[in-house]
Amino acid sequence: MKIIKAPDKLFKDLKKFKISGKSIGFVPTMGALHAGHLSLIAQARKENKIVVVSIFVNPKQFGPQEDLKVYPRPLKKDLLLCKKEKVDYVFLPGANALYAEGFSTYVDVEGLSAVLCGKSRPGHFRGVATIVTKLFNLVQPDVAYFGQKDAQQASIIKKMTKDLNFPVKIKIMPTLREKDGLAMSSRNAYLGKQERKDALVLSRALNLAKVLIRGGAKDTVRIISRMKQLISKNKNAKLDYIAIVDSENLKPLKIISGNYLIALALNIKKVRLIDNFQGRFSTQSKSVPNMGTL
Ligand code: PAJ
Repeated sequence: MKIIKAPDKLFKDLKKFKISGKSIGFVPTMGALHAGHLSLIAQARKENKIVVVSIFVNPKQFGPQEDLKVYPRPLKKDLLLCKKEKVDYVFLPGANALYAEGFSTYVDVEGLSAVLCGKSRPGHFRGVATIVTKLFNLVQPDVAYFGQKDAQQASIIKKMTKDLNFPVKIKIMPTLREKDGLAMSSRNAYLGKQERKDALVLSRALNLAKVLIRGGAKDTVRIISRMKQLISKNKNAKLDYIAIVDSENLKPLKIISGNYLIALALNIKKVRLIDNFQGRFSTQSKSVPNMGTL
């Protein structure tokens, strides 16, 4: 496994694989790797000759009041995990290597970046789209792997890839969960014992929606109101939003239909957590919707 810090060195090293037609699978991360990240890497390993993982806590996607400084950086452990997963290249740039002084070019996926999490995290998705663009340019992957856990991010990356003609196939992999249903996240490390219990309110609210829809509920206002009721019973949970939207364009849905996304974000004390599930509802078949796994 090669560890590369300099962007131009990475580009040069990978060029030979491009020329010889070896497929490159790429998994961008901010480190603090858990089983969710590893599932993306394993998929990349299965499908490509060369696997590249980037570990970079991207300052441009953190707001001034957010957790950039304290974001976990267990580098040694991360590198061991990458080695175990048979990663070929780990790209480990320093912040200055990617954002030289005077850096002023950004990628903004209009519309999709302003809703849901974008409302309370202004500039976040601009930071994400910009770093992913830079990484795509450096790695030039054939396939890039992202998690459904960050559903809005996934929609934005897909749209950006299409709009900017990146010759990259985007694959979205299912959310990995702890046994009790909590979606795996690097930020779960911030949760104390009680907060860890409280955090189950996210998957429980989504499960409630799932049961309601399975029982025939279609009116999204009603479903959201039932989810809110459940969350309000937990005193430590401060809701940011619950939304039921079209999973591609993220526009709100009045009635459950087509490919829909139920997404929510809330704070357990100071820790912001997100979760979602994506389902498909076909009016023609009248069948039970495919709820995905929770
Ligand atoms: P990070 O939060 O480290 O996540 C890296 C990738 O792992 C993302 O595609 C994310 O959706 C995926 N992931 C996180 N938790 C997951 C889970 N429980 N199951 C499956 N996949 C999961 O997302 C980012 O970093 C950054 O925004 C990045 C894209 C690297 C740009 O800086």
